Amino acid sequence: MQNFYYSVPTKAYFGKGVVSKIGELAKEFGSKAMLIYGKGSIKKIGLYDTVVNSLKENGVEYVELTDIMPNPHITKVDEGVALARKEGVGLLIPLGGGSCIDTAKCIAGCYGYDGPAWDVILNKSLVKECLPIIAVPTLAATGSDMDAGAMIHNEATHEKKQLMHPDLFPKYSLLDPEYTYSVSKKQTAFGVADIMSHIMEVYFSKTEGAFLADRIMEAMLKTCVKYGTIACNDPKNYEARANLLWVAAWGCNGFTGCGKIPCRWSVHPLEHEIAAFYNDPHGQGIAILTTSWMRYVLNDYTADMFATFGVNVLDLEPSADKYETAKRAIDTLENLFRSWGIPQNLRESGIGLTDDSKFEIMAEKAIGAADKINGCVPLSKEDVINIYKAAF
Ligand code: NZQ
Ligand code: ZN
Repeated sequence: MQNFYYSVPTKAYFGKGVVSKIGELAKEFGSKAMLIYGKGSIKKIGLYDTVVNSLKENGVEYVELTDIMPNPHITKVDEGVALARKEGVGLLIPLGGGSCIDTAKCIAGCYGYDGPAWDVILNKSLVKECLPIIAVPTLAATGSDMDAGAMIHNEATHEKKQLMHPDLFPKYSLLDPEYTYSVSKKQTAFGVADIMSHIMEVYFSKTEGAFLADRIMEAMLKTCVKYGTIACNDPKNYEARANLLWVAAWGCNGFTGCGKIPCRWSVHPLEHEIAAFYNDPHGQGIAILTTSWMRYVLNDYTADMFATFGVNVLDLEPSADKYETAKRAIDTLENLFRSWGIPQNLRESGIGLTDDSKFEIMAEKAIGAADKINGCVPLSKEDVINIYKAAF
């Protein structure tokens, strides 16, 4: 088991009705907040009304930044920073999925810098005073409501980059699973695939003695498998939505990695380049790439881990040959994603990726300045291109 530093300062309220606390909590951060939301699902599900009523009851004024798109744009961050300054906003309240929460985090992190927000994304040392955030997630996926990272897209340069800073943990996260009932089957499936990937990116780092971390992650993955299937077929199943929302919150905030050998994630950097060039839904790209990556990196080192994953998470019978068990685990995972309605190749995923013409530049950007992605199996540029081709 490895040494680690662990701190997740976000305070969470979980369950039916918790969002009505928001006004009382918001008062801690001044008298004016900014609501940040997308295309309007929050109005259909009654979340918007609950939030504004609670703010009004507690004397908290609010302004709104709306129309946040999936794979959120840096232009919205500039707009949000300008609005926050003009209106004297002291608190950001994203209401939605990871895209809304990430937009809020970027506004929070760029607020103290007097210049284009993209400068800060490229140079994290420019993050000064961060605005506080109270997050209300409406989609079980990214776990952005309880982590310190955000992903933001620059459409002009085809770049999707991360902003990470300890001051970006939301102060509070208010998680009511009932607000996730309306998430479509497809989006539910993408979300669960994303949660699984956050866990698997950490789980597949072989670490002597990290028994507790590995067993916790297996329980989290089993939760995704069980309740992902239920939520896809029975969207108003509270137990399923609740377990998924909570496992999402813990999937990406560093908790799972306590005691594991830190290792760069392998699938996420590849997906971020697909999003940068083709604007694909994050969880869909992740689900497609995960099984392609597993097949590509199957070797003596990974076969043990993939076989253990098959046995402990997917309840497969182990066979004498670890490769055979590992291959069955990959096939079973692919079939699971398919059964949730996720296409299993990029060509059919509806994102307009019809040829391999951008694979080279995507692979170059995925690797960045280093000559490889130092994941559990190091990936060169050629490897990345081959994985894109296998996923195509
Ligand atoms: O526009 P609205 O109406 O909000 O609709 C959204 C959007 O169309 C819809 N939705 C959300 N909650 C809903 C709902 N529809 C009906 N009922 C509800 N209750 O879902 C669509 C997708 O929303 P989005 O926020 O884009 O999804 P997700 O939560 O998957 O976020 C994806 C973004 O997060 C980043 C991804 O790269 C991507 O940009 N990530 C953030 C991470 C983090 N901060 O830690 C880690 C992740 O690995 C990921 O990279
Ligand atoms: Zn993800």
